[in-house]
Amino acid sequence: MKIALGVTGGIAAYKAAEIIRLLQDRGIRVQVVMTRAAQEFVRPLTFAALSGEKVITGMFAPGEEQSPNIDSAIEHIAVAQSIDALLVAPATADVLAHFAQGIATDFLTTLYLATTAPVVVAPAMNVNMWNHPATQSNLEILRKRGIQIVEPGQGYLACGMTGAGRLVENEKIVAAVLAALGTSQDLSGETVLITAGPTREKIDPVRYLTNRSSGRMGYALAEAALRRGARVLLVSGPTSLTPPGAAEITRVESTEQMRDAVLQLLPQASIVIKTAAVADYRPKVASGQKIKHKGAMTLELEATPDILQELALRKSSQIIIGFAAETENVLENAREKLVAKNLDAIVVNDVSREGVGFDSDRNAVNIITRDEVVTIPETTKWDVAQRVLDQVVHLRQQRKATVKI
Ligand code: PMT
Repeated sequence: MKIALGVTGGIAAYKAAEIIRLLQDRGIRVQVVMTRAAQEFVRPLTFAALSGEKVITGMFAPGEEQSPNIDSAIEHIAVAQSIDALLVAPATADVLAHFAQGIATDFLTTLYLATTAPVVVAPAMNVNMWNHPATQSNLEILRKRGIQIVEPGQGYLACGMTGAGRLVENEKIVAAVLAALGTSQDLSGETVLITAGPTREKIDPVRYLTNRSSGRMGYALAEAALRRGARVLLVSGPTSLTPPGAAEITRVESTEQMRDAVLQLLPQASIVIKTAAVADYRPKVASGQKIKHKGAMTLELEATPDILQELALRKSSQIIIGFAAETENVLENAREKLVAKNLDAIVVNDVSREGVGFDSDRNAVNIITRDEVVTIPETTKWDVAQRVLDQVVHLRQQRKATVKI
């Protein structure tokens, strides 16, 4: 997902830096557009460095004002079509007036007219400017047009006055953007503990037993849960993926380390999703030295701790979801695990199928609960993650209803 962040000229312009980070933490790309006045408060380079994208500072690139380049001239259309939402924070009285009257005098106001994406504005200004009938009437026009206004907070203002006009907390602005993107905040208040990736069991200093898990399924769940408002504790085996910034990550290698991390974090969690492909066996003894090539050898293995089983014994009120990687009797085997490991649901994938499951961007699963089976035909892991979280929300509602009775 990508949003355009319009920064206008106010003392709160520097706060946009933190907004960029919060959005990126949720996997959202940010294209910053600055008005001329905003550039008096913060240098575009700051936002370019933070967003990793070129910052748009005017209709034409520097030096092009006299002989405009056609690419620059139509850039606002390209940006307008590529974004999923437009956020303006801080939004001055001036930009609100331009938006309300449809006056396009620079890149940001032109982008506003050219985009069909949802628009969120977070005003910040002097209290008298905020209360002025002109500003209030412009806000009313924007509200009626479906623009989401994140009302400013009360307090001491940079101009020395006290009252309404402070840019509201960044978290509230980000929540409004997520809502505008259609991301419901139905996991807000929950702490979701997710395991992802493989575990590695050491054979000697250079070799280990592992499996083909890339971590993509677990990381998709982590990102989706964050976007839906949850705090995410991610316990990850070795992967090459970058975790979503807002996830609190614990990196582990072996099953024993994953077990210790999960059990230690369990009391903080209200929901546990065990996506990790945990090694079921490990060498009984790991060699301290590299094993030499001397013909055939036998490696004696022992079972690793069953983390899910231990969770089931230690859990209090948590909702626990397991994953199952099966190659035969897929539904029957998964149902057995659901009961044996005392889970609330199990997500089963047939890992013998080509192109889905391990080390792929796609998956096809059945989500099995005690009373239903929801089939998710082949789709992206992102979609699967959303559907698993829908089921989590459903289980939580069921549980609340049961507690009330
Ligand atoms: O990482 P990707 O490349 O995106 O691939 C995703 C996936 C295929 C790894 C994922 O969709 C998946 O199926 N994860 C579960 C893999 C697995 O270990 O399944 P299992 O049937 O062997 O184990 C069942 C459950 O018990 C799992 O939740 C597992 O985390 C847990 N388990 C297993 C063994 C063990 N010692 N302790 C456990 O807690």
